[in-house]
Amino acid sequence: MNKTTSEIRQDFLKFFQNKGHIILPGSSLVPEDDSTLLFTNAGMNQFKEIFLGQKKINHSRVVTVQNCLRTGGKHNDLENVGYTSKHHTFFEMLGNFSFNDYFKEEAIQYAWELLTSKKWFNIPEDKLWVSVYKNDYESYKIWKNIIQIPPERIIRIGDKNNCKYNSDNFWQMGDTGPCGPSTEIFYNYSDKLIKNSLEFFKNEGNCFLEIWNIVFIEFNRISKTKIVHLPNKCIDTGMGLERISAVLQNVNSNYDIDIFQELIKNISMLTSIKDLNHVSLRIIADHIRSCAYIISDNIIPSNENRGYVLRRIIRRALRHGHKLGIKEKFFYKLVSTLIKVMGENSDILKKKKEKIKKILKMEEIQFSYTLDKGLKILDDEIKKANSNTLSGETLFYLYDTFGFPIDLTSDVCREKNIKIDYISYKLLKEKQKRESSRKNKFYKNYNNSIIVNDKCLFEGYNKHKTKSVVRYIFIKNQLVKKIMKNETGIIFLDKTTFYGESGGQIGDIGELYNKNSRFIVENTKRYGKSIGHIGKLIIGEIKVHDCISSQINQNYRHSIQINHSATHLLHAALRETFGDDVFQKGSLVSDTHLRFDFSCFKTIKTSHIQKIEHIINMKIRDNILIKAQMLNLEEAKKKKAMCLFENKYSSKVRTVFIKDFSIELCGGTHTKRTGDIGLFKIFSQSSVSSGIKRIEAKTGQKAIAYLHEKDNNIQDISFLLNCNSACIKDKITKLINKTKQLENKIIDFQNKENAKNIKKLVKNANEIKGIKFISHIFHNYEHKLLRTIVNQLKKELKNIVIILVNIIDNHFTIVIGVSKNLINHITAKNIINIIMKKIKGNGGGKEEIAEGGGINTKKLPIILNSMQSWINVKLKNKDDFLIY
Ligand code: SER
Repeated sequence: MNKTTSEIRQDFLKFFQNKGHIILPGSSLVPEDDSTLLFTNAGMNQFKEIFLGQKKINHSRVVTVQNCLRTGGKHNDLENVGYTSKHHTFFEMLGNFSFNDYFKEEAIQYAWELLTSKKWFNIPEDKLWVSVYKNDYESYKIWKNIIQIPPERIIRIGDKNNCKYNSDNFWQMGDTGPCGPSTEIFYNYSDKLIKNSLEFFKNEGNCFLEIWNIVFIEFNRISKTKIVHLPNKCIDTGMGLERISAVLQNVNSNYDIDIFQELIKNISMLTSIKDLNHVSLRIIADHIRSCAYIISDNIIPSNENRGYVLRRIIRRALRHGHKLGIKEKFFYKLVSTLIKVMGENSDILKKKKEKIKKILKMEEIQFSYTLDKGLKILDDEIKKANSNTLSGETLFYLYDTFGFPIDLTSDVCREKNIKIDYISYKLLKEKQKRESSRKNKFYKNYNNSIIVNDKCLFEGYNKHKTKSVVRYIFIKNQLVKKIMKNETGIIFLDKTTFYGESGGQIGDIGELYNKNSRFIVENTKRYGKSIGHIGKLIIGEIKVHDCISSQINQNYRHSIQINHSATHLLHAALRETFGDDVFQKGSLVSDTHLRFDFSCFKTIKTSHIQKIEHIINMKIRDNILIKAQMLNLEEAKKKKAMCLFENKYSSKVRTVFIKDFSIELCGGTHTKRTGDIGLFKIFSQSSVSSGIKRIEAKTGQKAIAYLHEKDNNIQDISFLLNCNSACIKDKITKLINKTKQLENKIIDFQNKENAKNIKKLVKNANEIKGIKFISHIFHNYEHKLLRTIVNQLKKELKNIVIILVNIIDNHFTIVIGVSKNLINHITAKNIINIIMKKIKGNGGGKEEIAEGGGINTKKLPIILNSMQSWINVKLKNKDDFLIY
């Protein structure tokens, strides 16, 4: 009986546990604290700092199963997925690690024992081949003398292009970081007898599967040209679980192992495809794994960074679903099967199942609007293409207009043997990026292109006023020496108490003054590293180098500060209410209110809003001291501070604490105690885009004013309803019911009126070539009723043209109906166009019904009359149109 993938995973851990290794969990797919990596791509990532000697070694022997993603950066397998039998976007890497403990000999012996011993994987020795780095004589000797592999099955691999360490047997984590020579173990899955290294190279692609990479980490790559020795020698090994399962389950492709077969069967049931080796089935099966795990690590589809990788993979899967003819939304439905097949590794998926399904479904709904259309255009362009290359313009158009990631388009092209002009596409994309960032800059500094990089010291955290020296003055974007009375401009100081708009917090207002002059500051913004005071000089003049006092408006600042502290409370309360998936996506902190955008896939109910308000107002009543501290980024992270902008912080960060309820990195200004906020009230809740919600709230006196306004409204309503506020609901319910009764009565009455009118109209109708022509002008009737009459007459009489007009004051409206059997000769649209032309009104419609209106009522009787002869001319031969 073959081992299942689950059993193989467990055996690996058990084997190394028996050898004194401690089992540690794999790390998240999103690497912590490592800006060099987009996603975790190897088991060693989480131990990078230990390899580098920057972190203490707690356990010298470790074994893990690591979820890995190879879809970008140095290790990228996305394009190969589905087309080869051994590449995946997502895979599980089995790895044993030694940190300054055993080295080459034991690492190789352990690997050999696990693979070949009867008790464990029991692979026949003659099926295994190994490679070593050309200069690594030590490993060569271990394989040859200790393991006793025949030397012809030990392949020595050198450097490519004469470039030192550029070799398949020298493993590097990325462009920088830990690295070292490696030895790889290959499995010959064919029946072919391979005799020596020459034959090995010739047959590598068809006969061999690389199953295990053992890396001897002893170097650190600092740059392209510089490599240094590490303090300790370490072992990092990696074996793809899917590959070793394929070997042990006796199948030639990873897609034939138990996990994938169940997934693939599940997908094929949604289609009419019987061939389980279909590339699209494989791609979808691969992609549901990566997408589900990425989402479980709190990434959502977006147009940037990790979110864009996720979006690209989802969309590529959806396109393959489309290709298989799947009509309904399907991708999210695979999550349940995935959870079933992933065994011990599915805990995180189970926990986030509903969220994963929801996000996948939303992305599918969103993309389905453009997928069909984009594919049609792509198809046309491929047919039109003169050469066998699709132009960069088309690639960019599909990306920009239809949201087609480049891998999706190139996938389609690959199937049709068409190349893509990737370079031109990239140039167009970069151009667009440049242009939009230029636009953004312009927008931010809307009245200038000023950048001042002299640092301006901000003293406004604890002071309202300071003494400053004027450094620069700008008037209409021009650097000047002085500013005179009544001129507006921007003044830069050596230090200030004014906060320059940033991080969502708006700038300050206040005054710059000395004994002779006064400059009213209307706003403050950041220009480069400095803060510009924007405003108008109302007394005297100010020159560069003058000494002045800068004083902010304290009330205004106070309002901003309480809103800023309330924003931190809100962020924490949202996470308490909706879980750790809530992340800030944007904010505005002004003197009047606060606005907070955040990721959240749940529907926000009134009960949630009340809970959030309750949590925050409790914290306000607790009157907690708000403290700010400068910490090392590391320390701040240890304290679990919320870091909103990955990689954007310097090493020392200002951390704002509201006890341990809220800890955030923040440069903004805050109030001293939560009690200063007074009151927190949400006044609006909305959705900004899929998965992003917005809350707007007021605090302090503004919140009270808001509640007063609501009270006043209720008072007014009570007054109008002539009842006290407790009875409003009852009274309104009664009114609604009464209105309904009255409306029904009116409808009854109108129906009777209509019936009478219809009778009259039919009686007075003219006959033209066997059809009835009805035209009538009502006065002070209801336009809606004209439509009802026209529709009713059209239903009752087959051969009919009706023109009904209603005049109220000096305006008229008109409805025209033509029965269906006449529309090949005359249409309502024709008639309305003729009438409106004559009368200079507006109107339009379709063949059987048209409407319009205007002010020229006097000519109406004559025009309606004239239509009779027009109809007469249009209807030539009775037999062409009459229905009996
Ligand atoms: N880091 C090596 C690899 O990823 C061994 O784990 O192949």
